[in-house]
Amino acid sequence: MGSLCFNDGVQDDRQPWWKAATFYQVYPASFKDSNDDGWGDLPGLISKVDYLHGLGVDCIWVSPIFESPQKDMGYDVSDYQKIYAPYGTIEDVDALIQTCHERGMKLILDLVVNHTSAEHEWFQESRSSRTNPKRDWYIWKPPRYDAGGNRQPPTNWRGYFAGSTWTWDEHTQEYYLHLYASEQPDLNWENAETREAIYEETMRFWLRRGVDGFRIDTVNKYSKRTEYIDAAVTDKNSPYQAAPEMWCNGPRIHEFIREINQVLAPFSAVSVGELSNTPDPKQVLPYVSTRARELDMVFEFSVIRLGNGDLFTGKYIYKPFTLSQLKALTEKWQCFIEGTDSWATVFCENHDNGRAVSRFGDTSTPELWRASARTIALWQATLTGTLFLYQGQELGMTNMPASWDISHYQDVEAVNFFAEAVASRNEQRIQATKHGLSILARDHARLPFRWNEDDNVGFTTDSAKSWMRIPREKGISVESQLGDRTSVLEFYREMLRLRKRFQGVFVFGTHTLLDRENESTWAYIKEGFLTTKDGHRMRGRALVVMNFTVERAPLVDVSAALGCAPESTRLMVTTACGAVRGAKDELSAWEGRIYCDFGPEICI
Ligand code: GLC
Ligand code: CA
Repeated sequence: MGSLCFNDGVQDDRQPWWKAATFYQVYPASFKDSNDDGWGDLPGLISKVDYLHGLGVDCIWVSPIFESPQKDMGYDVSDYQKIYAPYGTIEDVDALIQTCHERGMKLILDLVVNHTSAEHEWFQESRSSRTNPKRDWYIWKPPRYDAGGNRQPPTNWRGYFAGSTWTWDEHTQEYYLHLYASEQPDLNWENAETREAIYEETMRFWLRRGVDGFRIDTVNKYSKRTEYIDAAVTDKNSPYQAAPEMWCNGPRIHEFIREINQVLAPFSAVSVGELSNTPDPKQVLPYVSTRARELDMVFEFSVIRLGNGDLFTGKYIYKPFTLSQLKALTEKWQCFIEGTDSWATVFCENHDNGRAVSRFGDTSTPELWRASARTIALWQATLTGTLFLYQGQELGMTNMPASWDISHYQDVEAVNFFAEAVASRNEQRIQATKHGLSILARDHARLPFRWNEDDNVGFTTDSAKSWMRIPREKGISVESQLGDRTSVLEFYREMLRLRKRFQGVFVFGTHTLLDRENESTWAYIKEGFLTTKDGHRMRGRALVVMNFTVERAPLVDVSAALGCAPESTRLMVTTACGAVRGAKDELSAWEGRIYCDFGPEICI
């Protein structure tokens, strides 16, 4: 693999800025409302950039803020160059870019170009007649007819949000393709003119205005197989079948992404692509190999999808998992980059999943909530790759209260999956879907960010106007945690600092899983190079041990695990505070620790 192979624990001095950076995803509707209408907005976000800077965030990723009818919370863009009015104006974006840059921070936007909104003028033209010059900018197909002469969609594919991927257009008598909602028609990337319009009018437009890159939505779905044939029947109870092999990682996908790379390169813009349905490292590598010149990073979803049922029909039928599964998947995606020229991302939350502490931790008592949220922070901050936090993760924000009924779910996906279960008239499926949604639904992550302990949590001034209901909980807010060393927030701040300080081990190091079958505790070694104060490079090792249960757990033999004499090991961090701190050779409930074989003489 030659000289480009740098993922061997050695930190290369010429690493790009985004590798050791901490990214933070803002979901703009739910972050901070500045004008009391119950929607978060850009002036609200600008007023909180200092908070993020103080936390240790280097780059903000803002979910879509563009003009949109909001059928899918802005992932349905009707004008890429206008800002959705409730979020603010284009001048607010300029001000946000400036506010970030003045603090040495970066800003990336969410690029949604697999589809547009049906209200985008490109689609309005495309659907106006079969001969319109933009007809071919979307994917139109004639109907099929069954034996009884009934009109049927061109293929049997199931969409992400339930139902068919095809919608009939009365006016021009053809179907159009949409992998998501019918109001999100898929663009036809086979058409070179369409691609050039995407590059010029979405990407270059924002890069010229100064944004530092993009999180690229649905990055592996632009190239579809062009045969448009039926998928195999895997769900006999439905006319619509999961068909990712028809539209994911298609024949021209790498060609298209290399073109994107050429658009971004002159601006040195960073790219992180959303890579779903691709759990095979061999398939992921070409997207993120430096030499391939495609993407800087991707989000691979094996870890965050734990607990989800079958991703298509059964997504919200909860599937319990074990700690050893979580360990094995983490290990797989940590080790995937070793010996290659690729790079990884680290994350356990985003706007499409339930909250990490409600899924991987324990929210049954305030003590366990705090302990497990801090241990999740320890886990994430010690992993190799670029770390992404999601707003509120640093406070240990939880899912909606269990007492909230289904009427509080607003997301198109939750609403459609529940309606599909109800239509099945299968009581067991209805109950199972409700249960699954209570853990996994996208709505949980979209609850308003908690700034203070008031009824409106400092998100807005009148909680009755908030676009999503605000749970009445105490102790989960910036106000209640700031300055409290035992809090989740202060622990995140501390861990982000340590991660940077010892980045050779935590950001760039190798990962070795220990005791993989243990279903209570999780232990791994991170190993990499550190620089001493007098400029020497030395190997450093850290042992991360975490108790994922409420029972006390024996500690592994630390010096044996680190491979050094007992007197050379140091306890670097424990998540436990005060009375709940475990004994020397025992971890308390949900306690996590880091031991290392290096000392304070290390400077970076
Ligand atoms: C991505 C987004 C999700 C959206 C979908 C369609 O998966 O993260 O929120 O619904 O794309 O754009
Ligand atoms: Ca507002």
